[in-house]
Formats: sequence, structure tokens, C-alpha cells
Amino acid sequence: MAKHTVVLIPGDGIGPEVTRATQRVLEAAGMSVEWVEMLAGASALEAGMDNVLPQRTLAAVTAHKIALKGPVTTPVGKGFKSVNVQLRQKLGLYAAVRPVRNLPGIQTRYEGVDLVIVRENTEGLYSGIENEIVPGVVTSLKVASRLACTRIARYAFAYATRRHRKTVTVFHKANIMKLSDGLFLDCARQIHADEFPGIEYKELIIDAGCMRLVQDPSRFDVLLMENLYGDLVSDLCAGLVGGLGVVPGSNIGDEAAIFEAVHGSAPDIAGRGIANPLALIMSGVMMLNHLQETAVAEKIKHAYDTVLADGNHLTVDLGGTTTTDGFADAIIAKL
Ligand code: NAI
Repeated sequence: MAKHTVVLIPGDGIGPEVTRATQRVLEAAGMSVEWVEMLAGASALEAGMDNVLPQRTLAAVTAHKIALKGPVTTPVGKGFKSVNVQLRQKLGLYAAVRPVRNLPGIQTRYEGVDLVIVRENTEGLYSGIENEIVPGVVTSLKVASRLACTRIARYAFAYATRRHRKTVTVFHKANIMKLSDGLFLDCARQIHADEFPGIEYKELIIDAGCMRLVQDPSRFDVLLMENLYGDLVSDLCAGLVGGLGVVPGSNIGDEAAIFEAVHGSAPDIAGRGIANPLALIMSGVMMLNHLQETAVAEKIKHAYDTVLADGNHLTVDLGGTTTTDGFADAIIAKL
């Protein structure tokens, strides 16, 4: 295996715990890697830096093109702009890809879940353009550009084609936001008609889409949506298959990619060594596939599927008593 240089951003809260466990699993599986550790988030401020997203962190991801990232904390209602949103916008990581599937041994209300959320990652309401126009009245601007809507639609259809998936469904609210979500739909329709007519294309108003997701998620394949909807629907879908501890993700651009779990920094359990590292380990598997290291990726996937199916080493969120490190050790033992 070629040696890869990967920027490691441990992040805040449970971030350092789950990134350490993930590093151990990747290395034990045979990944040849040089980690370049960089700070971001509250941990950067605690280390004395004057910015939650230090220039050297941004420069490192730009230079090495690949990062594995733990979650970072964002203050609610005040304080600095989300590090995640900044990273995605500054590095042009326009596609968030989040596969959601039933896992062996994890009982949920649903069977046959195997869907992928493709979320536009750079604009929408997350553009962060907010104003108090007069005291007591604020506006948040929802931005949709033909360039970004076309780019994410093309990504979703190309992904579906590459992965032999059959259907792309757009979740939208173009009945209300006729211009912005209307443009999103126009672009998806056009890319489908011009470039991917062999993939089935569907549209659903997002409220009905959410209802159908919780009725029978097995009906869905690739889900395409703008930024805010993708954020919300990702957590909803995590809840269908066992929670935030089991859903991985990637943020893909033309020049760089950052792999991170869907979950946040989980301050309620941080520092206790009980967080489930699986979501980040799965994100690590996505990273290995992105690096064309499919054999190592498959080995890790097989190992964690086996550990889950055995059911003897489950973390607290999945009904077990195993620690973060204990779960990583159980995977390593199966490699
Ligand atoms: P959260 O995802 O951190 O936690 C929600 C619930 O899920 C909590 O009860 C938590 O204990 C549980 N949970 C999450 N990950 C888990 C894991 N790996 N194992 C076991 N249980 C897990 O969401 P919350 O509380 O809304 O946000 C906390 C902070 O994280 C906020 O500052 C938010 O902005 C940030 N955040 C960061 C993200 C990122 O860096 N990519 C993504 C989402 C939120």
C-alpha cells in the first residue's frame, strides 16, 4: 500500500476519543499513513490560537487534500461561525455524502434500509448571510446558484451511476420557495434529462418525504437535497438505523475531501470514554475507498460487521456496555 498523508483534526468533545479509536483501527488494518494533526474548533482557542479555523489547518487540508475530522462545537445563537460551514465553503467541499444502512445485529423498527443522502454543502440558508433590518426584525438569506445546484445534481446522478443505484429522489419545498428550491429542481431535472436518463428520477415535497421515510425507508435509494434539508434529514435517517453513532459521512470537493461522522461533539458524554467510534471508523472506510484502498476498507468493514453481529461488544448507545476503546479493540481483534 502506498503511504498516504492525512490531515487529522481531532475536534472537540468526543472528537479526540473517536478519532484516536479510528486511527488505531485504520493502522491495525494495514493503512500506511502519516497523520498531520491540526486543530480546529474550541480546541484551537483553548490551545491559544486566535481563530477557530487556523490558517495552518486550512493550508494543511489544501496541501494534502484529505482529512479525517472529529466533530467541532459551534455556539448556539451567538459566537463564531461554524467551523464546519467555513471548511466546506472555503475548500469548496460541495457534496456531503452520507450512506445510511441497517447494520448486522442492530435491531431497529426498520429493515432493508440502504439509502444515501447527497447534500449540497456550500449555500442555501447556511450561507450565513443574516441581518437585523430594523430592531426586532431579522432576515436569513437562502442562496441558490445555478452553478452549485447543477454541480450537486451532477454529483448525485454520477454517484448513483457509479454505485449501481437505481433512483435519485429530490426532497424540496418548491411549492413555497418557488425560486430557490425551484432552481434546485430545474437543475436536477435538466442534469437527469441531459446526462443520466438511465437513472430513475423522482421529486417529493420534503414534508411528505419525511413522512414516507419514517413509514418505510427501504423505498428510498439516493436522496438529493439542499443544505439545510440535508442536515436535518441526515439525523432523521440516523435514527432509523441505530442513531448518530452509526452514520458516517464525507465532504467532497474537486480539490479536497474531509471525512467525518454525521454526529456532533456530544458534550453530554464527552470525556467519559463511552462514545461510539463506529460512525467515524465508517467514515475512515469511506476515506480508504476514496483513496482507492478498497482491500483495507473491505477488511475493516467485515471486521466491524462481525463485531456488531456477535453483539458482545456494543457501545452504550447501542444497548451495550463496551467503551470507545473496547469497541476499537474488538474490531482490531477481528481484522
Ligand atoms: P450531537 O450529535 O453532538 O449529539 C446528539 C445526541 O447524540 C447526544 O445525546 C449525544 O450523546 C449522542 N451522540 C452523538 N454522537 C454519538 C456517538 N458517537 N456515540 C454515542 N452517542 C452519540 O448533537 P448536538 O448535541 O446537537 O450538538 C453538539 C455540538 O456538536 C454542537 O456544538 C453542534 O454545533 C456540534 N455539531 C458538530 C458537527 C460536526 O462537527 N460535524 C455536526 C453536528 C453538530
